[in-house]
Amino acid sequence: MADNPYFCAVSAIIIAIDGYSSCGKSTLAKALAAQLNYGYVDSGAMYRAVTLYFLENKVNFSKSKAVQVALTNIRIHFELNKTSNRNETWLNGRMVEDLIRSKAVSDYVSPVATLVDVRREMVDLQRLAGKNRGIVMDGRDIGTHVFPDAELKIFMTADPEVRALRRFRELLSKGESWNMEAVRENLRERDRIDSTRAENPLRQATDARVLDNSHLSESEQLDLAYRWAQEAILSKKASN
Ligand code: DC
Repeated sequence: MADNPYFCAVSAIIIAIDGYSSCGKSTLAKALAAQLNYGYVDSGAMYRAVTLYFLENKVNFSKSKAVQVALTNIRIHFELNKTSNRNETWLNGRMVEDLIRSKAVSDYVSPVATLVDVRREMVDLQRLAGKNRGIVMDGRDIGTHVFPDAELKIFMTADPEVRALRRFRELLSKGESWNMEAVRENLRERDRIDSTRAENPLRQATDARVLDNSHLSESEQLDLAYRWAQEAILSKKASN
């Protein structure tokens, strides 16, 4: 990290990227972290790993005791695969990056992410990951709840039709063929669950910068976010 002029312990910041699903948060977060030499945490992957554990171990997640016991048996960490340059999610010593993106996990992850015990445990892990700052984390409640003191908060939005088309293409590339109306309905339902749950629902933080990428290319959105990050880092440096 020493070769990066923007990274030094005193000016390292936390960048929180929140927004609805299929807005391209992970794509931007990964690219921004790489450009800044920062760590990257996909908080959604944590909820997905918990969901995978619940499904594989037939945990009845309507029972809070069963959930609490299961959580004591779950260990999640991330590793950078140097061959593929992919940040991979590990669950109890097993690489599960592909499994957590399966349809079965996607179908159950939103309700699992509403569970208070699950959220508290994941938020603790997320805060631990950011304790030295120098991190980009994407999710739904990162700027509002996990790191309310993040130096840069980005709230991503995109036109619903653009999001549906992106999701449709993503599913197609994984060999899953859905019709567009089913994709639209799936996104609407996820949005509803994510933004209406009782515990830390998806909200735009009052101090977030809004990035609408409906008509931006990946490199255009990265340029914009990188500029905001530089401003936040320089402003932190100046105030130290
Ligand atoms: O970003 P994603 O689609 O991989 O997220 C999976 C689910 O987890 C989604 O229903 C939203 C939820 N989530 C959450 O509630 N809080 C976060 N910080 C990240 C994801």
